Amino acid sequence: MSKNAKDLAAQIRATAGDAPVQIGLILGSGLGHIANEVDGVAIPYGDLPGFPHAGVSGHNPNLVVGDLEGVRVAVFGGRAHYYESGRGDAMRLPLEVLKELGADTMIATNAAGSMRADMPTGSIMCLSDHINFSGLNPLIGEQTDARFVPMKDAYDPRVRERLHAAAQATETEMSKGVYAWYSGPSFETPAEIRAIAMLGADAVGMSTVPEVILARFLGLKAAAISTITNMAAGMSDEKISHEHTKAMAPIGAAKLETVLRRFLADYS
Ligand code: HPA
Repeated sequence: MSKNAKDLAAQIRATAGDAPVQIGLILGSGLGHIANEVDGVAIPYGDLPGFPHAGVSGHNPNLVVGDLEGVRVAVFGGRAHYYESGRGDAMRLPLEVLKELGADTMIATNAAGSMRADMPTGSIMCLSDHINFSGLNPLIGEQTDARFVPMKDAYDPRVRERLHAAAQATETEMSKGVYAWYSGPSFETPAEIRAIAMLGADAVGMSTVPEVILARFLGLKAAAISTITNMAAGMSDEKISHEHTKAMAPIGAAKLETVLRRFLADYS
């Protein structure tokens, strides 16, 4: 673990307390408000040297450490995307810090476009797998053999099972599917969407995949849930824009929050 991560974890413990964190949550576009519901301490990313600036509107750039439904969580109110800096490993330090704080699981959330008619705007999808269609990798440049990370069951089967159980218990519809990562920041063309749909992707977005690779590299269990904010390009007449993403995210976010809260409440 980098010295920087150890130092930051010590700094965070000094304000938030020593109790080990169990789960890390990364919040996507339009989901930042969940950070405000944690009973704990909020630390602005700006106070954590090396943390990303999380400059995308709709994100909440604080790390909040505290209690949510009886589980000690570290909530990353904003994330860095590859498209902001050209760095695929922009979330490496925050995830190293998460590991250092004691967590064994990372759950990422994101806004995504859907390629499936039965998964319309406002629905949510638990990722069963991904396609790294960007070809980029956050571990490029890593020198150790640990870089050869196996990616079978990258989305932890047991955690997914528990998330689906939480959805069922709260009567919340949650699909399962494959997420394809395009780098962004431009949205995809209809031809690109047809291509990934043909290859087996159910939803598309600009995040999460590098974080899941980094989480597995660090030995964290990973899971992720998408809120569907639009049908992907060419799939409907819906207009695709970041404004639209932010406007639509709350519909799925409410469902996602219901599932997450139940998952945490049943967590032991
Ligand atoms: N494409 C990529 N990223 C997204 C989309 C999309 O259609 N919707 C929300 N995030």
